[in-house]
Amino acid sequence: MAAFPATRLRRTRKTDWSRRLVRENRLSPDDLIWTCILSDGDIPRDPVPSMPGVDRVNLDEIVKDAQRAKALGIPAMAIFPHINPKYKDAAGSEAANPDGIVPRAVKAVKDAVPDMGIIVDAALDPYTDHGHDGLVHDGQIINDASVDALCDVALMLADAGADVVAPSDMMDGRVGMIRQSLERSGHKDVLIMSYAAKYASGFYGPYRDAIGSATALTGDKRNYQMDPANTDEALREVAMDIEEGADMIMVKPGMPYLDIMCRLSREYCMPTYAFQVSGEYAMIMAAAQNGWLDERRVIMESLLCFKRAGCDGILTYFAPSAAQWLQEEQ
Ligand code: PBG
Repeated sequence: MAAFPATRLRRTRKTDWSRRLVRENRLSPDDLIWTCILSDGDIPRDPVPSMPGVDRVNLDEIVKDAQRAKALGIPAMAIFPHINPKYKDAAGSEAANPDGIVPRAVKAVKDAVPDMGIIVDAALDPYTDHGHDGLVHDGQIINDASVDALCDVALMLADAGADVVAPSDMMDGRVGMIRQSLERSGHKDVLIMSYAAKYASGFYGPYRDAIGSATALTGDKRNYQMDPANTDEALREVAMDIEEGADMIMVKPGMPYLDIMCRLSREYCMPTYAFQVSGEYAMIMAAAQNGWLDERRVIMESLLCFKRAGCDGILTYFAPSAAQWLQEEQ
């Protein structure tokens, strides 16, 4: 008779109580950052076709969403703007307008829900008529002048009351320059969440539809966003951003990049976040709506897997549904 193993891993899997006792990772509403699309249009809630369940919301509605987020225990929201093309130009000047839709939304949300964390991209792409995250000169995205422009944007956002500015452009040296600008202008407590390892990804497609930069974009972003083939380079990017004064680091996209998060969280012990991007949202929703995947189950599994990979939190369009389900499970 064959000898049976002394160790049977199935013993602890047998019952619900023992599965709970050995569970290594848990998802909580504290892990969720709700990514919201804010529109400068008149329609209160304008559905994004390639992201079923996600609306571009106006100023009044984003305040309601913030109240909903608070009721669901979500600690923070990240706001991304859809801008009318008539306000776009080559320099993305509207990005630094203190009366723009984003600073107005930041103030409105802060007035209504003062303890909601507000994260805003310091970014030019929603505002440039070419759709790039930097200034273009002779067909090239120029680094240092773009960084200067981003510093202006970051300062304006900090003035408006943003708690966290998130440079999403991948220009070199921008975290340090933004940090210095914030320090000099008295915004020493404003956090920087850097899109530290942001890849040139096909998964941003639906977002570019949602904010209207898809039609604007000329060329692609491969000469500033990272090559999906690289890992070591992500470590170098993160090391630079920490050195320059980032408080939180982020990896983007999410699900196909769990190896990067795992390596980064072990290497640096920094607050580490994943951005589960629009294409990941669209993929899950498309399959769920066809009855090919169990929506709730795969969403919750995908979010838990970020925790397992070492993330401290997840920027996700699923935040309100996930928080709602977590509340129901209580
Ligand atoms: C760029 C930016 C992008 C996203 C957030 N900020 C896209 C891009 O680089 O073109 C993507 C978000 C998503 O896909 O959900 N500043």
